[in-house]
Amino acid sequence: MAGFQSLPGFRDFYPEDFSRRQHIFRTWRQAASAFGFQEYDAPVLEPLDLYKTKSGDEIEAQLFSFTDKGGREVALRPEMTPTVCRMVGAKAGALKRPIKWFSVAEFYRYERAQKGRLRAFNQFNADIFGEAGPEAEIELIALLIQCLAGFGLTKDDFSIRLSDRDLWFFYLEALGYNLVESRALLTAIDRYEKAGDKAFDEFKSSLSGDRLEEFPHKVQAITGFMKIRTIEALVEEIRMFHRPNLNARLDDWRKVLAGVTAMGLGDFITVDLSVVRGLAYYTGFVFEAFDRKGDLRALAGGGRYNDLVKKLGGPDLPAVGFAIGDVTTGLLLEQRGLTPAYVTAPDVYAVIGGEPERQAAFADIHALRAAGFRVDYPFKELAFGKQFKAASESGAKLALIYGGDELAKGVVKIRNLTDRSEREVPRDQVVASVRETLAAR
Ligand code: HAM
Repeated sequence: MAGFQSLPGFRDFYPEDFSRRQHIFRTWRQAASAFGFQEYDAPVLEPLDLYKTKSGDEIEAQLFSFTDKGGREVALRPEMTPTVCRMVGAKAGALKRPIKWFSVAEFYRYERAQKGRLRAFNQFNADIFGEAGPEAEIELIALLIQCLAGFGLTKDDFSIRLSDRDLWFFYLEALGYNLVESRALLTAIDRYEKAGDKAFDEFKSSLSGDRLEEFPHKVQAITGFMKIRTIEALVEEIRMFHRPNLNARLDDWRKVLAGVTAMGLGDFITVDLSVVRGLAYYTGFVFEAFDRKGDLRALAGGGRYNDLVKKLGGPDLPAVGFAIGDVTTGLLLEQRGLTPAYVTAPDVYAVIGGEPERQAAFADIHALRAAGFRVDYPFKELAFGKQFKAASESGAKLALIYGGDELAKGVVKIRNLTDRSEREVPRDQVVASVRETLAAR
C-alpha cells in the first residue's frame, strides 16, 4: 500500500530543512529589529471577502477557500497585506506613527507548482503606515536589501528593480489614455515579459479607426519606457511632455534614489519600469528583488498602497510595504553555497557505567541542562566502547564519564573529545568544571 504523502506544493520540514528555515527567519527578524520594526501575527483563516476584488483577479483565482460549518465563506490567507490593513485600520488612532510592523508567516495559494512556486510558503512582510512621503520607501528598500545581505548575499547576487505605477498612469495619460484604458495597459505591461507584443492584443482588439492606426506608435513608446534603466534616461524621456504631475513624481524618484545611495546601497537598485506588479492595490512606487544571475522567480515584491486601509473600512492611511518569500530565498542561498551546516551537536555526552552510576549521572545531567548546556546520554546500558563511539559521532565537545571507580572516589572524569585529554573533577563541581573546560577550548 502506498503510504500517505504531503499534498502537492506543501512541504514537510525534517530537522535539517527546519534548521535552514530557522536560519532564514532568524536573519529576517534580526534585520527587522535593527530597523526598529515591531513583530505581529494574525489568523491563518480569514473571511473570503477580505480578498475579493482587493488583491486582484490572479490571487482570487488561487484562493484555498471553503464554507465553514457555520456557513461562513472563508479563505486561507494568500498574503498578509489585507489582514495587516484591517488590524492597523481598527486601532489606527491609538498607534504611534510611523507604524513600522513586520511578520513571518505561512501563506497559501493554489498555484501550479514549479521551481520557486509552491502552494504553501512563508513570507517575511514589512510595512510602514502613516507616512505619505518617499522616506517610507527609503526605509523599506534599505530593509529589503539588509534582509538579503544578512545572509552574505551581495550586489552581485541580487538587485532591487524600482518602478512606479503613478508614473505609468501619468505617462499613459500623456499618451492620451484614460484611467480605465491605462489600467488595461498596465495589465498588458505586467504580462509583457512572458508574452511579448502579444500581451497588447486584447487591448488592441478594443480599438478602431485612428486610435487603432496610431497604436503601434504608442506600443513603441510604452515598450521604450519599459526599457529605461537609469534616472537620467527617465528624466530625458519625461522632459518632452512638460507635465507637472510627471515632474513632481521625478522629485520623489530623486529622493528615494538619493536616500538609498546615501546609505551606501545605490548599487543594489535599478530603475526598471517593466515592473508593474500583478496585485490590484498598488498606487505609487513598486519594487521587486531579483537574483542577478539565475532564472529564479522574484525573491520579493512590494510597493505603496495608499487606498487599501480605507477600502477595508479603516481611516485614510498611507501605506507601503513588501514581502520576501522563503522558497526563492532558500534556492538562491543554496546556489551560492550560503546555506549553513546543520548543527545539533551537544556540548556534553554522558558515558555511564551501569544502573547505579546512571542515578548519579542523572543528577548532573539535569543540573547541566538547567544551567543551559546541551547534554545527551544513551538511554540503554551499553559497553563503554560503544558509548565513546556514540559520543564522538554526536559531535559533542566533552564526555563526562560516570564509572564505578570514579564515583567511589566522589569524582567524575571529563574527557575533551577533540584532544582526548582527561581530568577528574569533584562531583559537586561538575557544572562549574564543564563551564570552565568549554570556555578554555
Ligand atoms: P507577492 O509578489 O505576491 O506580494 O509575493 C511576495 C513574494 O512572496 C514573492 O516575491 C515570492 O518570493 C513569494 N511568493 C509568492 N507566491 C509564492 C508561491 N506560490 N510560492 C512561493 N513563494 C511565493 C505580496 O504578497 C504582497 N502582499 C507583498 C506586500 C506587502 N505588498 C505590500 N506589503
